[in-house]
Amino acid sequence: MTGKISFQTQPRNRLMRTGILIGAALLSAVTSVAAFAHDGATGVVKERMDSMKIIGKQVKMMVPILNGELPYDPAKVELAAIKISSHAGSAFTELFPSESTDTPSEASPEIWEKWDAFSQLSDELAMNADMLKTIAAKDVASGSGDAGQFNDAFRNVLQTCKSCHQQFRSD
Ligand code: HEC
Repeated sequence: MTGKISFQTQPRNRLMRTGILIGAALLSAVTSVAAFAHDGATGVVKERMDSMKIIGKQVKMMVPILNGELPYDPAKVELAAIKISSHAGSAFTELFPSESTDTPSEASPEIWEKWDAFSQLSDELAMNADMLKTIAAKDVASGSGDAGQFNDAFRNVLQTCKSCHQQFRSD
């Protein structure tokens, strides 16, 4: 994955570089999932893993846009943002009944000790995805292909993934 970060191909500003690093770090976290055998998951654990996988798929589609490797397609981004939002907020937290850490779950027991912080991050993901959706919808309407606002909004989404995983997902 790191091989894809090609600073030499074109000059990038500092913000952009931060975006690339966040994107690359997150993507490797997302793709590393394939190395685990999660087929044994059942019940809510399976449901929330499936939700996260759907979210992960949307993110994977958008990271190359952030990295300037794919053109910004606001219609696609709008759909992706809607999917993320629909699997975040309470739709996500309701898949965490107390102490549901059955193997192969990577959910940290801290989720239930710090439930408010956990659900706040899930709400934050929904809000940031909604913001991304609003920006993409505006760009669809105006026919704009300028990824500037997309980049900022998507970076906020990625930051939320990272914050929650750091605190509440144990590998
Ligand atoms: C509110 C907290 C929270 C947020 C925000 C969050 N995640 Fe997660 N994520 C988790 C937890 C907890 C797990 C582990 C669930 C389990 O194994 O039971 C997880 C697991 C995953 C997995 C592994 C799924 C599997 O098959 O085991 C992927 C992929 C993932 N998250 C991607 C993302 C992406 C991409 C984002 C941001 C767009 C994100 N997550 C935002 C809490 C969060």
